Amino acid sequence: MALSGKRVLLIIGGGIAAYKCLDLIRRLREQGAAVRCIMTRAAQEFITPLSVGALSADHVFTDLFDRQDEQDVGHIRLAREADLVAVAPATADLMAKLAHGLANDLASAVLLATDKPVLMAPAMNPAMWSHPATRRNFETLAKDGIRFTGPNSGEMAESGEAGEGRMAEPLEIVAAIENILDDGKKPLAGKRIVVTSGPTHEAIDPVRYIANRSSGKQGHAIAAALARLGADVHLISGPVTIPNPVGARTVHVESAREMREAVESCLPADAGIFVAAVADWRAETQSAEKIKKGKYGSTLTLSENPDILAEIGHHGSRPQLVIGFAAETENVIENARVKLLKKGADIIVANDVSHDSGVGPGGVMGGARNRVQVVGTEHVEEWPEMSKDAVAERLAALVAERLAK
Ligand SMILES: Cc1cc2nc3c(=O)[nH]c(=O)nc-3n(C[C@H](O)[C@H](O)[C@H](O)COP(=O)(O)O)c2cc1C
Repeated sequence: MALSGKRVLLIIGGGIAAYKCLDLIRRLREQGAAVRCIMTRAAQEFITPLSVGALSADHVFTDLFDRQDEQDVGHIRLAREADLVAVAPATADLMAKLAHGLANDLASAVLLATDKPVLMAPAMNPAMWSHPATRRNFETLAKDGIRFTGPNSGEMAESGEAGEGRMAEPLEIVAAIENILDDGKKPLAGKRIVVTSGPTHEAIDPVRYIANRSSGKQGHAIAAALARLGADVHLISGPVTIPNPVGARTVHVESAREMREAVESCLPADAGIFVAAVADWRAETQSAEKIKKGKYGSTLTLSENPDILAEIGHHGSRPQLVIGFAAETENVIENARVKLLKKGADIIVANDVSHDSGVGPGGVMGGARNRVQVVGTEHVEEWPEMSKDAVAERLAALVAERLAK
């Protein structure tokens, strides 16, 4: 019970994702936290104080001018009695209010009055999230020390639109709360780490693309393991079918060029771990229309994609620690050594993805197990075959050790 004895004040904003808060309350209580809730007026349009009160087993606060509540607890006490204030969903409106110091209802007054850490889990339509006003408010709040989890990319509940703006899942919010309340105790607390994962898809036309067999399992497991050690993890994922890892901020991209842009926007970072199987090549031209069968030539002309690992390894704001993954089918260690120098990495984690690598079932690509060799400038470590989760744990511990130096 990671939150045993902790008091979480949960402010529920008026977004469609409010329904996820019912599960969030349950998950927080499962971890031993006492959860007290404030609901905005808009939140009560989506879920009822009755359900929130039943799940939190506490009175639900809704009104700044409720005479009984003000006499019994008072908004200042409400703000201070918690160990952490979480806002989920954090609406565009609540973010704007706090960024500008407005306090005209209970939620905003408490946010201004609290002296405790505040975690926001934004949720809104992608257009609202990317609006310059919301970007400015986000930056102001981040500068004021407000912590954020999510939003994630994906399909919106109400419109089916895809993009960044989905609220972090309840377990991700719980993990973020645990991280904040544990701050300083975990070995990677305060470290910002960028991880890439999955394949890239390089479009030929609207329906066809060049891809590879990477599943994202290893990269996602690494992102989750780093987050468990307290890191602020930014995961840039290619197209995968697995869920976002708990505790990491995940951005979804398609192509190598999009991945490069997303990675660059995360710099500066303390470490970069490049696990994604980025396509080396893309079609030189992408047709906006589906290419008709008869129109195919016998050749597809390719152009070389950016080498993200090499670019970051030689970047002006190079992270202190750069780790690359290399899928090899022969001369695994020799090839990894060459890559280490060429790409400016500190460590290359080489995996033998040949069909007879002995890792099964499913092999390394797409399977659940991995066998890697960790090649540094001065040493090579052979790790025995283990689950991808176990490789992730061990690598996260290695990252913590290297960043502590
Ligand atoms: C169906 C519906 C869904 C909404 N979803 C969101 C949302 O996900 N995020 C958001 O910021 N606002 C959303 N809004 C708008 C907010 O409810 C509105 O800005 C409200 O004033 C927010 O109040 P609050 O910040 O006090 O909770 C939605 C409105 C409606 C009618």
